[in-house]
Formats: sequence, structure tokens, C-alpha cells
Amino acid sequence: MRPVAILLVVLVCGSVEPRRAWPRGGRVHRGGRTGAATRSVPRCTQYLEAGEKYLDCQDLRLTAVPPVGWPEDTVHLLLARNRLRVLRHNTFAQFKLLKSLDLQQNKLVRIDGDAFAGLGQLTTLLLQHNGLRFLSEEALIPLPRLAYLRLYDNPWDCGCRLDSLVRTLQVPSNRHLGNYAKCSEPPALRGRKLKKVRPELLCPELGERVPQEPGTGSRDPTPPRTKPDATHTCHTYMFPKPLLDCGNRDLKNVPVDIPPDIVQVDLSRNNIKRLRAKEFVAARDLKSLNLSTNGLEAIETAAFAGLLYLRELDLSNNSLRYIQYGVLEDLYFVRRLALGGNPWVCDYNIHYLVYWLKLHPGVQHSGLECRSPDKFAGWTVQDYVKTYNGDCPEDNLLDQDNYGQEIRAETEEEEVKLLPVPLRVPKKFEVIRLN
Ligand SMILES: *[C@@H]1O[C@H](CO)[C@@H](O)[C@H](O)[C@H]1NC(C)=O
Ligand SMILES: *[C@@H]1O[C@H](CO)[C@@H](O)[C@H](O)[C@H]1NC(C)=O
Repeated sequence: MRPVAILLVVLVCGSVEPRRAWPRGGRVHRGGRTGAATRSVPRCTQYLEAGEKYLDCQDLRLTAVPPVGWPEDTVHLLLARNRLRVLRHNTFAQFKLLKSLDLQQNKLVRIDGDAFAGLGQLTTLLLQHNGLRFLSEEALIPLPRLAYLRLYDNPWDCGCRLDSLVRTLQVPSNRHLGNYAKCSEPPALRGRKLKKVRPELLCPELGERVPQEPGTGSRDPTPPRTKPDATHTCHTYMFPKPLLDCGNRDLKNVPVDIPPDIVQVDLSRNNIKRLRAKEFVAARDLKSLNLSTNGLEAIETAAFAGLLYLRELDLSNNSLRYIQYGVLEDLYFVRRLALGGNPWVCDYNIHYLVYWLKLHPGVQHSGLECRSPDKFAGWTVQDYVKTYNGDCPEDNLLDQDNYGQEIRAETEEEEVKLLPVPLRVPKKFEVIRLN
């Protein structure tokens, strides 16, 4: 990844903030720089990244977008986690160059038909985690270039009024518009995806009953959710990188439905004890995965299947004692592996991890230290393995050419002590007898 230069941070309040009326009494800032006055005033931050101007007005308790005062050449406008409730006509009309608009995690309940008028360049519009029950398809008409639209975690009311929006989302060329958004109402459609629900069901002819879709019968239409769903449990951020923040949410499982374009997932500080096979296959662009501080005890063999582009994996501060044979084989491009704070047991099972690291010298790793048995506590695992090999020089375990044979030899010698050994050794030769 090419490091992107961040130029120019923090612009002094004057040029970023509205000069005249701030839409809340007592919050008007008149350009003074005295500490007390400035602190109570919302302050946006401006910066350039890859030549494009970002205006970061997140977490400022804003209840409205000021009609003038914010730089009109803003290309990315970040308004997440404010208190916007209503977007009126022409709210963003002065931002002719805007390519992305992040309005997630506000309190939006209403968006007027031409709230987005003038945004002819907009490609990304983030409206997730709001209180929207309805959005007119008209609101999208001024946005000919819109390619990404996030609508999930809003209480969509899948009735007649939503019909035109749902039909628009379902046009095949609108592939990235409105994925994961689900109906909250009416009860018969609760949990259905806007992308998938049959539009005829939204607005049945007057007097007609909402027909059940085949197979659902009359049971509770909400399928039991056994696993948390990423788009509702976690927060997504698109800038500067698509990040899914699922940190510290008491999750017991990896959430399902991780959006495929996410590059970074933070699952740290949860309660995920076990990683099961193929939990990340949908997240094919993932480059960084943080599983730190989960009490993780076991990782099943194909747990990292599909993570072809993963470069950074943080497994630190867990309860791992060894890595099962084969687990790391799906990680072709990993560059950094954080392993500290785990009770690594320096016995036979740890050899796979060391063997793999030896075969992948480009991987920077940290924290691989024996915690037990007492004899090796505090040693680096590599030193333990060297001693192990030193004790049995003829069994040079880490000589990769002989790896399979050595394992077999040792298994025979020390069979009793080493059971159970979950090691599967690739066969180098196989003699096939043909009768
Ligand atoms: C993973 O999360 C932990 C805890 O939030 C943090 O300390 C650590 O730096 C993160 N690791 C990476 C690689 O970002
Ligand atoms: C390690 O995990 C413990 C809980 O298991 C937590 O209290 C501590 O803050 C974590 N340390 C780091 C460095 O993340």
C-alpha cells in the first residue's frame, strides 16, 4: 500500500465555520481565539489527502448544515455522529465538487426530495445508522454518478411509499446501492432485504392481504438470528479506508455479512473464543484483521480461508497455546503477525507455527514467547525450537525438506508422550500398488 501524504491538518475555525448564525443560540463563534469561547464551538477539520479536500465535521453535535461558510471546494464531507434530524431542500447545493458525503450515525428521520440537489459528482452517500423509515427515490435523481449508497440500520417501512426506492435499488446496474438494508415494518416483511423483497409485496392492491412468500407459512417472519449481523452490530467508516469497527461489543461470534468491500476489520476486545472455518470468506478485500483481546482459544483449519489479501493479523492478548496445523496456509500475503500475550506452550504443537514462519521470512511477527512448560517459560519460541533440534541434531525438524519424515520418526519414538497430536503431515511419496 502506498502511504498517502496527509497535508495540512486543522484549519483555524474562522474559515471553516459559519460566519454568521450558528443554528443554536449561544454557539456563535465570531472568529475569536480565546480558549473558553473556542472550546464550546463546533470545529471542523480540513485536510488534503491524495489531492482532494476533506472536511471532517464528525462528532460535533451539529443539528444543521450551515448554508454558507464551509469551503465550497470540499470533495469529501464527513458528518458522521452528529445530531442531524432533517435534511431540507438544497442542503448541500454549494458543494458542487462533492464526491462523498458521510451522514451515518445521525438522527435523520426526514430527507426532502431535493436535499441532494446539485451533487452531480457524488459517488458515495452514507446514510446508515439513522432513523429513516422512508426515502423518496426522487432524492437520488440529482445524483447521476452515485455508485455506493448505504442505507442499513434504518427502520425502513416497506409500504407503498417505499415502492419506488425499492424498485430503483433492485435495478441490476445499481449493484452497490442499498445492500444489507432491511425492512422493519410491516411485521410480515420485517427482516427482508430491500434488495431482495418482491416489490409487489410492498403495495398490495387495496383490500388485498399481504401474501406470504412461498415457504414462510404463517410462522414468525423474522428468521431467528443466531449470529450477530455485521452491518447492524458494527459501524462502518468509508474514509480514509473502509473500516468495520466491531471492537468492544461483547460479540461471541464473528458477525455475518461483513460487506465485501471492507478493507479493515476491528474485532478486538470481544469474546470470540473460537474461529470457525470460512467465517471471513465474504470479506475478500480484507487487508487488516484485528482479533486482539478475545480470549481466543482455538482457530479451526480453514478459519482464514479466502483472506487472500490479508496483510496484517493481530492475534495478540488471547488464550492461544499453539496454532493448529494448516491454519496459516490461506494467508498468502501476510506481512505482520502480532502474537504477544498468548500462553504459547513450547511443546510439539508449536512447531507448525515456527515452521511456517521460517518458510515465510517476509512476515514480521512479535510476541512469540513460551509461557509453559516452566522449563522454557520466558524463552522465545524460536530458541526453544533450536534447543529442541540441538538435542536431536539428527532430527533437524526445521529442515524443511525433511519436515515430514522427521515428524514421522519422532511420532514413532515418543508416541505415548505426545498423544494427542493433531498434526497432519503432507505425504511426500505415495506408493500405489497396481494389481
Ligand atoms: C488491535 O486492537 C488493539 C486493541 O484495540 C490495539 O491496541 C491494537 O493496536 C490493534 N492492532 C492493530 C494491528 O491495529
Ligand atoms: C489484554 O486482555 C485483558 C483482558 O483479557 C485486558 O484487560 C487488557 O487490557 C488487554 N491488554 C491489552 C494490551 O490489550
